[in-house]
Amino acid sequence: MEIRPVGVNANTRWGLEPPRLVVCRSGYALQSPFPTAVAQLGWMNTIQGWRPVPTEIPTTTPAHVMSMMHKILKASPLSAEDQKRLDDLYAVIEREAKVFIGYPCSTVFDYSPLYPFLGYPLNNVGDPFVPGNFHLNTHKFELEVLGIFQKLTAAPEDSIWGYITSGGTEGNLYGIFLGRELLPDGLVYYSEDTHYSVSKILRCLRVRNVMIKSDSDGRIDLEDLRETIRIHRDVPPIIFANIGTTMKGAVDDLDGIRQILDDLAIPRHYIHADAALSGMILPFVDDPPPWNFASGIDSISISGHKMIGSPIPCGVCLAKKEHVDRIARNIEYIVTLDTTILGSRNAITPLFLWYAFRTVGLDGFKRRIEHCFDTADYAVEQLNKIGCHAWRHRNSVTVVFDRPTPETVSKWQLAVQHKLAHVMVMPHVTRERIDRFIEDVAQTTPASSGVLPS
Ligand SMILES: Cc1ncc(COP(=O)(O)O)c(C=O)c1O
Repeated sequence: MEIRPVGVNANTRWGLEPPRLVVCRSGYALQSPFPTAVAQLGWMNTIQGWRPVPTEIPTTTPAHVMSMMHKILKASPLSAEDQKRLDDLYAVIEREAKVFIGYPCSTVFDYSPLYPFLGYPLNNVGDPFVPGNFHLNTHKFELEVLGIFQKLTAAPEDSIWGYITSGGTEGNLYGIFLGRELLPDGLVYYSEDTHYSVSKILRCLRVRNVMIKSDSDGRIDLEDLRETIRIHRDVPPIIFANIGTTMKGAVDDLDGIRQILDDLAIPRHYIHADAALSGMILPFVDDPPPWNFASGIDSISISGHKMIGSPIPCGVCLAKKEHVDRIARNIEYIVTLDTTILGSRNAITPLFLWYAFRTVGLDGFKRRIEHCFDTADYAVEQLNKIGCHAWRHRNSVTVVFDRPTPETVSKWQLAVQHKLAHVMVMPHVTRERIDRFIEDVAQTTPASSGVLPS
């Protein structure tokens, strides 16, 4: 019998002699000079005797040994029943990911080299620009990511502040909060196509607000906006502009909005841009509409788990520094400034975003987005061939079409609104996946006709 003992470094954090994984053709076992300590770590059932392995072990390369080790460690702390529940959940998620085309989250990422950081209670509490007293943080990497977004959003260098958020919603909360703090008597204007979370934010902040009509293509109706602002001319407007609406991917006309403010001679105003998805698309297209700091916005929110992709929701929020300076508070407990919405903040997601930019790169994201546009055009073409009235905005990966049957909506996890549904053509969506989807839609009758953009 061939036996090959292999040292494994799994336990150095506890300062113990590393247990050894012994692998042979008929089984494997862990051996350690400190069985009690190993037992405390939950490995007792693996340290004595042989456990059968389902298949012969063809090789004992270090990578294979580590993977066996991982299986042992993974299996040991849970009861068989609990482990089965996890395995079942994983199987469901694996299966559902194959038909995931309705929501704007890329599944194309691999952050496994960063997993060792999950072994520590990292926390980016406080302002990323001000060193604090909680040293288990990733602020340096957070700042690098902010620097990249500063360029992508055409924000003036050195006069911009920001932080990595828990997602687009928190960035929007921050933007409206900042606008409200600067203009306490302000009135928020937002279109009826705005993301559902914004009306809740407005309730939380107890800020006065008016919903403005949208055009049929999803953009804010400038005539309704002009008329409503005119009626409330004595109150400073806080404009919540959509840079890519949730359902139709429409971009509000920022130049048109600023023209209205000029025409009505309203110098005191605040503009927040919700660029949840399109904030990582428009920097990479040749002919973007006005959408960023160069077009007069005061703050912006972009999701990180959408076009970039992340297993943990995240986002980035940027705002003009002069605004943030007016609301910052010094906090002795953490020896830094309390500028962010949350106290404890995720320190892993800044690493994910940093890693994505370092590995995929800006050119890589440009190519991914071109792939998305190409596949989105294909989806529009194929859906129209079967009579589903599909369309998309220029520079958008959102393909809008007639709402299909409830079975199709559920199977393909489609977001729907009234008579419409959409497919989000993210980097993981291929022509083959679109073909399988079209097959399903073709077998059913579209419920009704959708609205084509004017
Ligand atoms: C336009 C828009 N704003 C805000 C959000 C909320 O972003 P998050 O899910 O990152 O909180 C979404 C989410 O889809 C969105 O589409």
